[in-house]
Amino acid sequence: MKFIINGGKKLNGEITLSGSKNAATKMMIASLLTDEPCHLENFPIIGDTEITAELCRTIGSEIILDKEKNILNIHTPEIKNFKVDSLTRRNRIPILALGPLLIRAGKAEVPIVGGDKIGPRPVDIHLNALQEMGVKVEISPTSYKAFAPKGLHGAKINFRFPSVGATENIILAAVLAEGRTVITNAATEPEIIELIKMLQKMGAIIELGANRAIYIDGVKKLKGVTHEIIPDRMEAASFACLAVATDGKILIKKARQEDMITFLNALRKIGGEYEVTNGGIIFYRSTPLKAIKIETDTHPGFMTDWQQPFVALLTQANGISEIHETIYEDRFGYVQDLNLMGAEIKVLSKCLGELSCRFNGKNFLHSAVIKGPTPLHSANLVVRDLRSGIVNVIATLIAGGQSMIEGIDEIDRGYFKLDERLRNVGAEIERVE
Ligand code: EPU
Repeated sequence: MKFIINGGKKLNGEITLSGSKNAATKMMIASLLTDEPCHLENFPIIGDTEITAELCRTIGSEIILDKEKNILNIHTPEIKNFKVDSLTRRNRIPILALGPLLIRAGKAEVPIVGGDKIGPRPVDIHLNALQEMGVKVEISPTSYKAFAPKGLHGAKINFRFPSVGATENIILAAVLAEGRTVITNAATEPEIIELIKMLQKMGAIIELGANRAIYIDGVKKLKGVTHEIIPDRMEAASFACLAVATDGKILIKKARQEDMITFLNALRKIGGEYEVTNGGIIFYRSTPLKAIKIETDTHPGFMTDWQQPFVALLTQANGISEIHETIYEDRFGYVQDLNLMGAEIKVLSKCLGELSCRFNGKNFLHSAVIKGPTPLHSANLVVRDLRSGIVNVIATLIAGGQSMIEGIDEIDRGYFKLDERLRNVGAEIERVE
């Protein structure tokens, strides 16, 4: 499937955010921890939640999705299958099912989650921590086999890096483990806090300490829950960049200021403007756009998933902008697409900034220098990964003329009916087979 886009128009109107992809998928896994029904409201109907539903069904979940009301009912009375290695390995969620499977079935087998177009993405932090909790892990060429014959026990775990997935993995494993688990240098992204809130409603005991510490006291049983998923802050940033880049004005309904503080500051510094209202945030341009220096970081820093749409926007800003990507070693592949369209962006292996970075001195192209403003022209592009895909859409909507974007299934993994919602703000975008 592809998008045909006629760009160059100012986009105006309203877009309503979907529920967060990176919260919803983890909550589906959290539901596996109880034999009682769970109800997830504001549920995003996107590719990644479909893939996760397939995983949960394989494990034994009964799932009913109310597409009108966006409610997912998920109930796993028993674990029918602890082995999910036959799944097609299309996203990175199965590794998070290790804890729930070990707790309810004593063993687990999940597919190896390999690297992808944004880097090798190892899972050593997840596996080392699980081992400290009494889990034995065997690695085969295609899967991780895990056993906990004596059950899981609490442990003191210090992460070498505040990994989002590893933090979620250990929380999911620890809530029903024997005793207390302490995670230091944990990640604290809003999606993780939401997972904690859901688990707390299910009966878990989880405390947040100072300096990225999380304390979990294992309980015997968790119960069912109804939980509303937070709006997707990656979608919010994508649409905000689109409004400002096209010199339009868009009310992003349900956008939450508290999840986007760093983004809002960066946007204002470059000449973008916003008004926080009861229903959401209105984004527009107040002055000609100017350059900025940004370093991506773990929460509450400027998040790596905002980096790509922001760079598309910075092609329209006056001066030299610099981005230092400190989370992923290889997240600038899409720059080739922007340069093909007329942008002037160089990628470097040097650290451009002050944050200490794991990629310092290594040969990873993890910094970018953007010279703007550059008019963009239309192009035919192929989507590289989800967030590169949104850059392709933003850039072709900025550019004059007709563009084609192929491989949009990747965009559908994270953005609900993107074309339909963009047409509502005046974009000329069609989906064709
Ligand atoms: N890392 C390791 N070892 C590990 C785990 C992570 O070296 O065991 C490294 C990774 O290779 C990466 C960095 O740590 O360089 C960050 O990885 P993290 O574990 O924090 O990320 P994740 O859990 O795999 C989630 C989101 C990503 C988002 C990151 C960072 C989901 C499903 N994915 O990934 O979202 O970029 O956190 O915030 O929640 C996206 O939505 O497009 C996306 C990629």
